[in-house]
Amino acid sequence: MTEISRRAFMSGLGTAGLLAAGGTEARGAQASLKASAEAKGLLYGAAIKSSQIQNDQPFMQAVTAECNIVVHEWELKRNPVQSEPGKLNFYLPDMVAAYARSNEKKLRGHTLVWYYDNPQWIVDGLKARNPDPALLTGYIDGACAHYRGRIHSWDVVNEGVEPAEGHPDGLRIQSPWYQAFGAEYIDIAFRAARAADPDALLFYCEYSVEMASAMNERRRTAVLKLLERLKSRNVPIDAFGIQGHLKPFVNRFDERKFARFVEEVQGLGLKIMVTELDVADRWGPNDIAKRDAQVGAVTRAFLDVTMASPAMLGVLTWGLSDKYSWLSSYPEYKWPDGQLSRGLPLDAQLVRKPMYTAIAEAFDARK
Ligand code: XIL
Repeated sequence: MTEISRRAFMSGLGTAGLLAAGGTEARGAQASLKASAEAKGLLYGAAIKSSQIQNDQPFMQAVTAECNIVVHEWELKRNPVQSEPGKLNFYLPDMVAAYARSNEKKLRGHTLVWYYDNPQWIVDGLKARNPDPALLTGYIDGACAHYRGRIHSWDVVNEGVEPAEGHPDGLRIQSPWYQAFGAEYIDIAFRAARAADPDALLFYCEYSVEMASAMNERRRTAVLKLLERLKSRNVPIDAFGIQGHLKPFVNRFDERKFARFVEEVQGLGLKIMVTELDVADRWGPNDIAKRDAQVGAVTRAFLDVTMASPAMLGVLTWGLSDKYSWLSSYPEYKWPDGQLSRGLPLDAQLVRKPMYTAIAEAFDARK
């Protein structure tokens, strides 16, 4: 038995979490998430960082074994690429792109336009009386040209709605992009991206569209309104990215409402993809086996809804191992005692957890 499979066995996951010695498949075990996805013509991948490529070989071996697509967790945001005016620095995101190319992984681009993580000089520029449209389109042209032909899909606009901000259609009006260019910034961004890289799929992405709360319901309404408006204006959008940051211990997953929402998105002629799946386990049971089981169960229920859709393209988790999860440091979701969040498929030692099995079985169950 390999060290990984021995530990999986010891942790009581049974055959579902096992790889037999020599890497052959144990009975009932999935060979890899990528194999389960590919058997259904789908993608499975994870968000990674260049520091992991440079420093963590075992982790990257797991990424290579499990994923057929990767996405930059951080390095392709405006702050890292454009820390200085007038320069585009793709040094770090290029490392992820080079890993993808040499390991035959598809690559997602995250993200061209976001209200968050913009350098101060851009935020200041957008506040000018006549903000320069190149702040929006110049960057899209540059980034799409740099990666032309190498990107499976671009997250063109990320998180453009926030019903709590009071706009009648639920748009995120405090976004510096909205404040500079009005609601049309979204249309402009998609048109620029299509012109700069005609082969990439173009995504609009949003979080909190799967839970029962009134706020999630308002977000679903706002997202549908936005997507309908974009389609009615022939804006070149191909897909909706369901981020999938699940928070089952603060907000119940609502299968019925989520399924209706997915159907409506699909009805607009858009593809769907789960682009940032993870599960905030803060406020879950202290007992780790119980908590892991509940994380697995909500993952399965959530993915089953997306797998039922013919528009489904695949799943990316926001990280692969608990060793690297933004949830462990994000103020709202980190554990106060400093323990790691357990919201990703592999634990910090790269051992498969029930969430791994849930993803694999959701792929396997797709018709
Ligand atoms: C997070 C990254 O995980 C962090 O490393 C970074 O510091 C902040 O952003 N929704 C998104 C992602 O679209 O870009 C966010 O990623 C997580 C929430």
